[in-house]
Amino acid sequence: MKERVLSGMQASGMIHLGNLVGALSNWVKLQDEYDCYYFVADWHALTTGYADPSLIKEYTKDILINFLAAGLDPEKCTIFLQSRVLEHAELHLLLSMITPLGWLERVPTYKEKQEELRDKDLSTYGFLGYPLLQTADIIIYRAKYVPVGIDQVPHLEISREIARRFNYIYKEIFPEPEALLTEFPKVVGVDGRKMSKSYGNAIFLSDNQEEVERKIMTMVTDPARVKRADPGNPERSPVYQLHKIFSSKKELDEVAVGCATAGIGCIDCKKILLKNIFKILEPIWKKRNELINKPEILYDIVKKGSERAKITAEETMQLVREAMGLF
Ligand code: TRP
Repeated sequence: MKERVLSGMQASGMIHLGNLVGALSNWVKLQDEYDCYYFVADWHALTTGYADPSLIKEYTKDILINFLAAGLDPEKCTIFLQSRVLEHAELHLLLSMITPLGWLERVPTYKEKQEELRDKDLSTYGFLGYPLLQTADIIIYRAKYVPVGIDQVPHLEISREIARRFNYIYKEIFPEPEALLTEFPKVVGVDGRKMSKSYGNAIFLSDNQEEVERKIMTMVTDPARVKRADPGNPERSPVYQLHKIFSSKKELDEVAVGCATAGIGCIDCKKILLKNIFKILEPIWKKRNELINKPEILYDIVKKGSERAKITAEETMQLVREAMGLF
């Protein structure tokens, strides 16, 4: 029996290269070794986006398309939509009975996100319960590993605590899920900050060739390199940071030396990067187009995946209802 892995992506933005390198590519590798469950967290998108849900559907579709375009194979893993497996909501409710408010209030991301998104009213029950819903997502499949970024570690910690508390009060049903932290290269955006949908600096998988080209060719480089003849410091250039991820060792050395000696201009350096990014994006674009032209295939995969997820979730829920004294 393969060990179970579960992870989700919140439907609150279009998927970009940072998501691909930081999460999706790793998920694709895991599907051969583990019994993987991957889903779109569309309910989670409502915790911060409830006031304007107009884009959630589009984001959900973009994520699902990119799951498949990046190489997730519905024959190997279970791909589903959170809102199609109602058992997550039932478990969330039942867990809410045993979750001390203080645990939720102390999750560091709670106060941080409220501060960060001060223009939104996040003094809601749903927002406080974000990590509890996430806990339900994970433990309903009794998943052992959860591949996530370092930012999700506090959420995983509370998931473990809640699983432990349930097991202690009622019955040993839930394994404590572990974060599967992989060392990912940090993907910078076109302005040199971390690539993020909220900074307006991302290269999206849905961007076409011209858009990607425009974004790369207008990227900032080492600000000290004003003229072509000025030598630069590659470490100060976000273009070089992207080369580290997308280019071969040989090309990386060439552009580093070329930059430092003014042997190569920024435009040529960017062209090499562009070629390598295209190499990654081209097969993804091809599969995206197939799916965009045949949405029935996508709907069918999600429907079947959600049904499959539901079977596993329902098995757990029978144990939970029984343990919690329900008829
Ligand atoms: N919070 C995760 C994010 O922002 C999304 C998510 C929801 C998730 N439920 C999950 C991740 C369960 C892993 C497991 O990306």
